[in-house]
Amino acid sequence: MRTLKNIILSVSFLMVGGGWCSGVEASPELAKAKQCDTCHRFSVGETEKSAPDLFFAGDKFQRKWLANYLKQPKTIRLAGHTRDPGFLKGKPQFTGPHPTLGPKEAQQMTDYLMSLKILKNAPPLELPALSKGTRVRVKILFERDYSCIACHQSYNLARQPRGGVSGPSLIDAGHRLRPEWVYQWLKDPKQFNPKGRMPLYTFDEETLRKMTQYIMSHKKEPKKK
Ligand code: HEC
Ligand code: HEC
Repeated sequence: MRTLKNIILSVSFLMVGGGWCSGVEASPELAKAKQCDTCHRFSVGETEKSAPDLFFAGDKFQRKWLANYLKQPKTIRLAGHTRDPGFLKGKPQFTGPHPTLGPKEAQQMTDYLMSLKILKNAPPLELPALSKGTRVRVKILFERDYSCIACHQSYNLARQPRGGVSGPSLIDAGHRLRPEWVYQWLKDPKQFNPKGRMPLYTFDEETLRKMTQYIMSHKKEPKKK
């Protein structure tokens, strides 16, 4: 039964999918064909490019968010990417709009990007639920002790976005990023970006987990009608 269903599925997919007939599949070729590789790096060895690296996209992003982003990109770095040649002058060269993909291409690109990983054997991360009191304490760390808010947008108590724009916005981090990646990023951002502009912190294990959970709690709610 299962195989029959699979055969029917793949046959109908082949009939509907024009892209398959043209030989462009979920692969580096699609990224080339769409010129994504003019701005992004898709493998570790390439020389630096002006937009965020994608060679660890499978570690970093949640699949659903990524598929939606490719169809309907939204601005994440409000002051541009730090590697944009105009970033330090406050005049980023890339001012959008980001290229968009159709539904089928977005699906294929998502499959390809989600296969790009550099983290080895990263087990799923168990994160502590944050009590109200702990949440407030972590918020104070985020805003005062470590001044993360100087560079990152986050929610205030009234769930309004506020904060600096030189780093990526964390407003929808809970839908966008994988907790395992956030944890690894906070532990050592250099493993992903040796020349990054984010300050290095040394958190103890407990703070690391709480901070990760705090960031993952930033979720944009769909607008109420
Ligand atoms: C002209 C340069 C350019 C091209 C071409 C381009 N991008 Fe981007 N892309 C950017 C920039 C700049 C950002 C950061 C935007 C932001 O933060 O708002 C970005 C962000 C992204 C992100 C989110 C990355 C992150 O870490 O937040 C993904 C995923 C992405 N692009 C995929 C693609 C794909 C797939 C293609 C090809 C279809 C593509 N891009 C083509 C410049 C480009
Ligand atoms: C001086 C500015 C600055 C400060 C302070 C700062 N960051 Fe960052 N952060 C950045 C920049 C810039 C990036 C993008 C890094 C890159 O591409 O190298 C980043 C990236 C991140 C990311 C990954 C987001 C993404 O989409 O790629 C997370 C999570 C993060 N920072 C959390 C924090 C936390 C938590 C703190 C405080 C403990 C903090 N940051 C403090 C500038 C800053």
